[in-house]
Amino acid sequence: MEHELVIVLDFGGQYNQLIARRVRECGVYCEVRSYKTPIEELKKLAPKGIIFTGGPNSVYEPTSPHIGKEIFELGIPVLGICYGAQLVAYTLGGKVETCRVSEYGKTETFYDRTGVLFREVEGLPESAVSWMSHTDYVAAVPEGFRITAHTKDCPAAAFENTDRGVYAVQFHPEVNHTQYGLGMLDSFVKKACGCKGDWNMKDYAKTAVEQIRAKVGSGKALLALSGGVDSSVACALMSKAIGSQLTCVFVDHGFMRKNEGDEVEAAFKDKNLNFIRVDASERFLARLEGVSDPETKRKTIGEEFIRVFEEEANKIGAVDFLVQGTIYPDVIESGTGDAAVIKSHHNVGGLPDHVNFKEIVEPLRMLFKDEVRKLGTELGLPDYLVWRQPFPGPGLAIRIIGEITREKLRILRDADLVFREEIAAAHLDREISQYFAVLTDMRSVGVMGDGRTYDYTLTLRGVTTSDFMTADFARIPYEVLEKASIRIVNEVGSINRVCYDITSKPPATIEWE
Ligand code: XMP
Repeated sequence: MEHELVIVLDFGGQYNQLIARRVRECGVYCEVRSYKTPIEELKKLAPKGIIFTGGPNSVYEPTSPHIGKEIFELGIPVLGICYGAQLVAYTLGGKVETCRVSEYGKTETFYDRTGVLFREVEGLPESAVSWMSHTDYVAAVPEGFRITAHTKDCPAAAFENTDRGVYAVQFHPEVNHTQYGLGMLDSFVKKACGCKGDWNMKDYAKTAVEQIRAKVGSGKALLALSGGVDSSVACALMSKAIGSQLTCVFVDHGFMRKNEGDEVEAAFKDKNLNFIRVDASERFLARLEGVSDPETKRKTIGEEFIRVFEEEANKIGAVDFLVQGTIYPDVIESGTGDAAVIKSHHNVGGLPDHVNFKEIVEPLRMLFKDEVRKLGTELGLPDYLVWRQPFPGPGLAIRIIGEITREKLRILRDADLVFREEIAAAHLDREISQYFAVLTDMRSVGVMGDGRTYDYTLTLRGVTTSDFMTADFARIPYEVLEKASIRIVNEVGSINRVCYDITSKPPATIEWE
C-alpha cells in the first residue's frame, strides 16, 4: 500500500470503528484489526502507528485480551485508549488497580500542555471535559513514562514516553463529548507518528477497488439494488472494480417516491455492468389487495421482494458473490475480534434462500454514512442519489395508512414531492434527517370555493436525529409548512387538510407503520 496507514487493534471496545473513522478524518488511512493479528502480519502492513482500543475487561484477569511486549519494540508509535492505556501500563511494568471512584461520562481533565498529544492542539485550555468510562485505573505508570493529564479521581489520565514512542489516554478522545479529542488524535498521527495526512476518499476508492478485484478475481457477483444510498454506492464501487462481472438487480416494487425508479435506472443503466430493472409493481399491488395491517404489509413486501429477486437471480444462474451494502452502523459488534452479526436487512427482507452463491461481499462494511456519501460522490454518483434520505424498504406502502390503492399512491407521491421541493427551496434538505408525507386513512369536511369537500388528511413528518434510534421532530418554520400545505391542497387533489406531526421518538416512531 502506498498510503500511510494506522492500525487500530481491537480489544473489544465499543468505539473501535469510530476511532478508525476519526483517524481517517485526520487524513490518514486507518483499519481495524483484531488484537490477535500476528505480529509478523502487522509488520508486513507497515503501519505508521498503532492504536489499542478500549475493552470491557480488566487487564489482570487471565482471560482478558493481552498483547506481547514485542509490539513496543517495532519502532512503531503506539497509543493506548482506555483499556488500551491500562494494557500499556500493565505490559510495560506499571500498576493497574480497581478505581476507588469509577469515572463515567463527562469529566473535567487537567492537561500538561507540553505533552505531545496536547501541545499543538489549537486552543486547548489547561482543563477541559473528556469522556471517561472505566472501573480500573493506572495507579503507577511504567518506568520512563511521565503523566501528562489527570482528573480529580484519576492520577494518570494520560501518560507518555516519547523516547519509546508510546502514548496513553484513559479517556476516549474519539467521542464528541471529549473536547479537543480530534485534535489529540491528530497530534498522535501527525506529531507522534509523523504522518503527512494526505489520504482522502479518492485513495479509499482506489484501495477498495483493488481489494475487490483481488477478492472477486474473475468471479461473478450479484447485487440487489434498492436505490438507497448504501446499495447505490456499493453498486458504483463494485462496477468500477469488476465491471460486467457484476449483475445488479433493481426490484422496483412500485412504492418508490416520485421519479425515483427512473433516477436509479438513469444512474446505472449505461454503466459497464449488467443492470436489470424489474417492474414488479403489479405483483406487489395484487399481493397487497385488501391488506391494511402494517405488519402484514411489511412481511408480504419482504417476502415478495425476495421472491422476485430470486427469480431474476435464477435466470442468471450460479454466482460466486452476493454483494450487500451493509455499512458499519448495520454491523453489531459481538465480542472482540472480527466476529460480527449483520442486522437482518429489512429492505431486502433477509438473505434469499434460493440464490446460488458462495460468499458475501460487503464493500462498505467499515464506513459510516457520511463516508459512504463522500465515496459515492468520489465515484461520480449524482447528488440526488448520494444525498437521498433514508427510505424504508417497504417504501410508500407503509406511509399509506390502511389499504393501498393506485390512486392513494398517486396522491401520496405528488404530495410528498411538493413537500420535498419546499424543504429544498428553504435549504433545509441537509439539516433535517428525514422528512416525508403520510397519507392517513381519515377523511374530513372542508370547504373549497363555495362547495363542501370530504377528503383525505395528509400528515407531514420531519425529524432530526443522528442514529434514527431516537429522534426529535424538526422545527420547520411555519412559513415553510404553510407554503407546502397550500401547494399540496391546491395542486395534488383529494386532500383538504394537512397536519404536521410533532411527536418525537419515543414515544412515536419515525414512520407511521
Ligand atoms: P422507525 O419508524 O422504526 O424508523 O422509527 C427508523 C428508521 O428506519 C427506517 N425504516 C426502515 N428502513 N427497511 C428499512 O430499510 C424498513 O423496513 C424500515 N422501516 C423503517 C425509517 O425510515 C427510519 O429512517
